Amino acid sequence: KAKVGLVGWRGMVGSVLMERMTQEKDFDLITPTFFSTSQAGEPGPQFAGYEPTTLQDAHDIEALGAQDIIITCQGGDYTKSVYHALRDAGWQGFWIDAASALRMDDSAVIVLDPVNRSEIDKGLSKGLKTFVGGNCTVSLMLLALGGLFEKDLIEWVSPMTYQAASGSGAQHMRELLTQMGAVHAHVKDKLSAPASAILDIDREVTSFINSDEYPKQQFGVPLAGSLIPYIDAQLDSGQSREEYKAQSEANKILGSQSAPVPIDGICVRVGAMRSHSQALTIKLKQNLPLEEIETIISQHNEWVRVVPNTKEASMEQLTPAKVTGTLSIPVGRLRKLNMGEQYISAFTVGDQLLWGAAEPLRRMLRILLS
Ligand code: HSE
Repeated sequence: KAKVGLVGWRGMVGSVLMERMTQEKDFDLITPTFFSTSQAGEPGPQFAGYEPTTLQDAHDIEALGAQDIIITCQGGDYTKSVYHALRDAGWQGFWIDAASALRMDDSAVIVLDPVNRSEIDKGLSKGLKTFVGGNCTVSLMLLALGGLFEKDLIEWVSPMTYQAASGSGAQHMRELLTQMGAVHAHVKDKLSAPASAILDIDREVTSFINSDEYPKQQFGVPLAGSLIPYIDAQLDSGQSREEYKAQSEANKILGSQSAPVPIDGICVRVGAMRSHSQALTIKLKQNLPLEEIETIISQHNEWVRVVPNTKEASMEQLTPAKVTGTLSIPVGRLRKLNMGEQYISAFTVGDQLLWGAAEPLRRMLRILLS
């Protein structure tokens, strides 16, 4: 059995990964060693009924070097602190990483096998050993539009995102809920009195949201009752780093870096918990009937599903509330836009922690084990 080192398994993405690996019985195929950055020497976890083993030190290059495969969800700083030291020490194993630190390196493949299995295989046959999960919005968009990309039908696409709190981390999810509760608590009495005027309530909410009492340590600004139209660092191009990743990562995943498909839009944080949504404006290279577009989209992979462009189906099936906790990738609101026959709209939703983070990693592990 392959020796697999697991780092960052306790965090949010790591926990989802452990859950999925247990469900899919991945642990039956490996000899796991659990690493910790802070609790080396203590008993390890007991996933899938295994006897707990002792936690190893996640900075111990020798212990890491004894693994055939390392999967890390520990974050970019950890990757930067051990990856090169490990390679410099001569380690030839496979490194599977959720963090973005190594994503754009030539020595790394971004993994999303339902979309780019051929790029993964190409990387493996070239002897590449570093496989990194993509940015969540990018992976979710490519799973949704995989059919159109595969058939080279997209001239450009503009994703406008509605990203969940989970993308910022566990503490941010907690803060979103705290904000929601705080707003409600602030006007609870007035709200329950039928005679109170909604504009009075709104005035109180607005002044509370903008006051120093509003809990916003993590986000820095209100999310509940508002939104945040900027995600990740500011770049000189005028894009946020999240927006920059769309085109650069998507074209790397698709292997189309030499003639990249333009992909650009605005990324926005909204008060959803863990599913990202995206409104897509797409220019196709040719005028295709809508039914054909729907067929191409829905036949690409087993998770994508076309939702009829009706009010009822969209409201019921095309929402974070519906999708969260599942691997389903619904795509709806498909229609031709007034701009012309080659312009279509689409709206898609996906779980940020499953297909957006953990799932591509465990599937890469399976590819290596097969
Ligand atoms: N950067 C993403 C977000 C999550 O902030 O929503 C990770 O891919």
